[in-house]
Amino acid sequence: MAKIFLSPPYLSGSERKYVQEAFDTNWIAPLGPNVTGFEKEMGEYFGSPYPLALSSGTAAIHLSLKYLGVKEGDIVFCSSFTFSGSCNAVLYEKAIPVFIDSEPESANMSPDALRRAFRYYDEKGIRPAAVIVVDLYGRSAKWDEITAICKEYDTPILEDAAEALGSRYKGEFCGNFGELGIFSFNGNKIITTSGGGMVLCKTEEQYKKMLFWATQSKEPCLHYEHKEVGYNYRLSNICAGIGRGQLEILDKKLAMRARIADYYRKAFKDTPVSFFPDFSDCKSNNWITPVLIDPEYIKTNTEDICIEMNNRGIECRPTWKPMHCQPIFEGCNSFAHYENGKYHCEELYERGVCLPGGDALTDEQLDFIVHNLLDIIGL
Ligand SMILES: Cc1ncc(COP(=O)(O)O)c(C=O)c1O
Repeated sequence: MAKIFLSPPYLSGSERKYVQEAFDTNWIAPLGPNVTGFEKEMGEYFGSPYPLALSSGTAAIHLSLKYLGVKEGDIVFCSSFTFSGSCNAVLYEKAIPVFIDSEPESANMSPDALRRAFRYYDEKGIRPAAVIVVDLYGRSAKWDEITAICKEYDTPILEDAAEALGSRYKGEFCGNFGELGIFSFNGNKIITTSGGGMVLCKTEEQYKKMLFWATQSKEPCLHYEHKEVGYNYRLSNICAGIGRGQLEILDKKLAMRARIADYYRKAFKDTPVSFFPDFSDCKSNNWITPVLIDPEYIKTNTEDICIEMNNRGIECRPTWKPMHCQPIFEGCNSFAHYENGKYHCEELYERGVCLPGGDALTDEQLDFIVHNLLDIIGL
């Protein structure tokens, strides 16, 4: 059997049409009709008035933090259980990340730990400049609780919905819950532009300011005049063409991913392989499929399980190693979900394996994945 990848792109076919148009009209430059079209179509789909297309999700987080006023020495609360792209931009601005644990139901930011973090800093007279809340693996955070706490402390939220395009919380699309929200269109995401990202802006003013920074902060005059530092962060017209073709089949993709998740659930029923808990307020996009292995069946660690799966032609990865455990963030403060100081996300990392979730996986491939994982853990 050919190698099975974790989350390979799945194309509609019409990506080629949009890219061809860009070639035919010589719109090879950044910006152009595909970028404008992609922003308009994304805005219509997600009910967002001003979506800004950028070169990556990381760039989207960076500009959003700048917009929220994050500057040197500021504290930024961040989800700990995530990919480093969520919080690297905090360091770009020389601010200080403080990591918040996950809670068991959503596997995302713990409202209890968040409240404890606010209280701790409040006693010192410190307010964080922003809170970056992640919707990990397509699962939404507990938005009602988190929004209420952040409102109480008058602190803006940046929603990192990089992995949650098409997911919903209480019926609303992820990406719309913070002051600003972002998506990633990296190669492994639900829809890809080869590489790209987006900020879902709520106001024209937000859109214009971040667009200005993303295009080298060129002042509005004919010669090149600059008063602020700028970035080259816009999405290219070619990449946006891929995104337009992808968006056409988003509903189909979400249905395909739901079928895969369902297949795994049935196949692993009554085995030591379980799923992240059902979180009834959330309708996940089923990006990749993180599963939890019963510790009794982990001989050494999940890394070894993944290596063996890879040896058998199935790309697997451990779940994200929490940010508060990463060498780059050593010395940063963090807040656990449990009052005894135990971190829930450490357990999710120690027991978690991400299984392939590409849209087009066949029953035969899914069966092969299930059979091999059970075999490797000794069943
Ligand atoms: C949760 C999360 N945040 C941020 C990013 C960064 O996005 P990008 O790779 O497009 O820069 C990613 C993934 O790639 C991610 O998974």
